[in-house]
Amino acid sequence: MGRVSPLAFAVYWLSMANTSKTKAKSSLSSPARPRVAIAIMAAGKGTRLKSKHPKVLHEVGGKPILAHVIATAKKVVPAKDIFVIIGHEAELVREALAGTGVNFVVQAEQRGTGHALMVARAAFSGDKYDQVVVLSGDAPLITAETIRKLSDFHAAQKAAMTLLSADLDNPYGYGRVIRKGGRVEVQAIVEEKSATPRQKNIREINSGFYAFATPALYEHIDRLSTANPHGEYYLTDMAEVLHRARKKVVVIKTEDASEVLGSNTRAEMMMLDVRLRLTKCRELLDEGVTIFYPHTCVIDSDVEVGADTVIEPFVQLLGNTKIGADCRIRSYSVIANSILGDRVTVRPGTIMEDSRVGAGAVLGPYTHMRPGTEVGEGAHLGNFVETKKIKLGKGSKANHLSYLGDAEIGEGVNVGAGTITCNYDGVKKHKTVIEDGVFIGSDSTLVAPVKIGRGAYVAAASCITEDVPADALALGRARQSVKEGWARAKRESRR
Ligand code: UD1
Ligand code: CA
Repeated sequence: MGRVSPLAFAVYWLSMANTSKTKAKSSLSSPARPRVAIAIMAAGKGTRLKSKHPKVLHEVGGKPILAHVIATAKKVVPAKDIFVIIGHEAELVREALAGTGVNFVVQAEQRGTGHALMVARAAFSGDKYDQVVVLSGDAPLITAETIRKLSDFHAAQKAAMTLLSADLDNPYGYGRVIRKGGRVEVQAIVEEKSATPRQKNIREINSGFYAFATPALYEHIDRLSTANPHGEYYLTDMAEVLHRARKKVVVIKTEDASEVLGSNTRAEMMMLDVRLRLTKCRELLDEGVTIFYPHTCVIDSDVEVGADTVIEPFVQLLGNTKIGADCRIRSYSVIANSILGDRVTVRPGTIMEDSRVGAGAVLGPYTHMRPGTEVGEGAHLGNFVETKKIKLGKGSKANHLSYLGDAEIGEGVNVGAGTITCNYDGVKKHKTVIEDGVFIGSDSTLVAPVKIGRGAYVAAASCITEDVPADALALGRARQSVKEGWARAKRESRR
């Protein structure tokens, strides 16, 4: 976008999201509803991405592109009526999305979008569905509302094919919609490579989303040919095929053109990512979360944040993270798949993964919480403390320069600066148990397996290799010896 000041960019970024969309649900459940199936085309390789990974598994907004499309489809019909057409790296795609409960149809050879629907014939023909809505697995911004509008419009028009279109300022690369004398009826869709210069001036593009009357689609789909620059069966040609067969082909235009954007190139994909994250930030702002400089934050689509929580610049909230109300997440913190209670303070530079934090806890700056860290209510983990698979009880503190791994630490414990749990003997990991009210002096090493009993003291700089009984004092260090005058004598001998 050329040279733009940070402020101008922030303003532009926020203004891009006009999320005052009505979330009204239309009538998919009304009695006269046709029986609708959804096909998601996701078999293509994504050559233009220059990637070894299948296009639909590339992530935007923190999850695979295809996962967004499936999640949206599931808001419209149940998973059993969703059929994802996979082909390139089919097993990888199936594995990544098996948890969604949808059906998969394999298009072993990818001979075009028309061919994808030919391969899925068995799923849709027969008498099960009146209507097939076709979505593109590489266009994740489509909303359930727009899918319902497309489906309802198709039913109301009693059309054989309805395509969703959009006006784009730069229609390059998309199929162009050729309307019949400017009416709702469509004569054909012309792909970029086949378009005449005059057709290329048309700004109304084919979004790649359609609704078909199932019988009309499968009675005529075999008329598609591969006589085009790509040598593929184009689903877009169904417009002309059905029009010629005197079937009704109509078009409905989206109000929000950004919903149909696809991800054929990395640049397009990053634009989608920006939009998804922006929309996410707008949703959170609407829910009462403060986000300073939202364009610097990376917040994944499924993250939840409670009201009055403040998120400072350059924060990343990833995966299935849930953050309570009245928290403060300070700059440069990266929180993945973690659950934080209310009133938690996360100071700058804290890194957290697969962890749980109780209400009122204070973390950071620069705390590294690795998977399995459980922090109790009001507990503190401070500067340069690394944790892994530990339980830190209510009100306990480890504020400075420690490594705590495979440890169960009770309530009201003070872990002194520089304390290390020696959990690994080179072969196995062992556990350290520190009971309630224990005081561990600074620079102690606790060689696991070891247990420090309730209320005990460990003297600073101790190396503890044996269990310490409750209420005892353990010293595990060399006794100090002092040689009077030694330093002075050394200095004088140097003269
Ligand atoms: C397609 C449309 C174009 C429309 C654009 C909107 C065709 C011929 N053209 O072009 O009019 O403007 O979408 O984004 O349909 N796929 C399969 N099997 C195949 C080929 C593709 O499942 O054999 C899948 C791809 O994985 C992808 C989707 O179909 O998810 C669309 O294919 P793509 O190659 O991206 O089509 P476009 O060139 O974008
Ligand atoms: Ca595409």
